[in-house]
Amino acid sequence: MTPARLTQGATALKRGASMAHTFATEKPEHAVAIERVLDRAFGPGRHAKTSERVRERGAVWEPALSRVALNDAGEVIGVCRIYRVEAGAPLFFLGPLAVDPTAQQAGLGLALVRECITACRAAGGLGIILIGAERFFRPAGFTIVPKDRVALPGPVDGARVLWLELRPGGLDKAQGALTAPH
Ligand SMILES: CC(C)(COP(=O)(O)OP(=O)(O)OC[C@H]1O[C@@H](n2cnc3c(N)ncnc32)[C@H](O)[C@@H]1OP(=O)(O)O)[C@@H](O)C(=O)NCCC(=O)NCCS
Repeated sequence: MTPARLTQGATALKRGASMAHTFATEKPEHAVAIERVLDRAFGPGRHAKTSERVRERGAVWEPALSRVALNDAGEVIGVCRIYRVEAGAPLFFLGPLAVDPTAQQAGLGLALVRECITACRAAGGLGIILIGAERFFRPAGFTIVPKDRVALPGPVDGARVLWLELRPGGLDKAQGALTAPH
């Protein structure tokens, strides 16, 4: 079995304290703790989201590209999952992304996104698409998908459909309905 990929670091909390953390590839033993983080971060609306429809419609989860953040006790405090989808070209779908409320505002959310981008690029991906706040994802390089370029399975504010090109020209052929990978 391949050893989990680990990245260590310390995130300076805006309050001034410091929180040690480790990033690791998602493993089956993280599953229960991840559900707890997702429930605590998203609250009751969690399963009503359009991104859940994307995942239900055959998106293929890629645990090897998904990352968790662990605290110094080895507990999961954040997660960023990656799925394979298709929209005229093979793409990765990022989400859910969640950081436990006790660990938010310390830079972990964006750091998890960057870890996943690195993994997706190393895997030879063309691009990553997601549904989220442009203000949050912009520093990682995401931009709003041009109007009518990609159709999602459910109601969504077009200003929240974002993508990132992983290599030059990677998104040139990306268009149409977002579906399961062919
Ligand atoms: C979004 C989330 C993952 C961010 O985690 P985090 O570790 O607090 O993020 P970071 O510390 O890297 O970044 C914090 C910044 O993101 C901003 N931010 C957080 N959520 C945001 C949102 N929904 N829209 C816009 N900005 C947001 C914060 O205001 C903060 O900005 P500031 O630095 O200008 O104050 C976390 O708030 C969370 O789990 N939220 C609930 C689940 C969720 O909404 N997930 C995202 C779905 S796309």
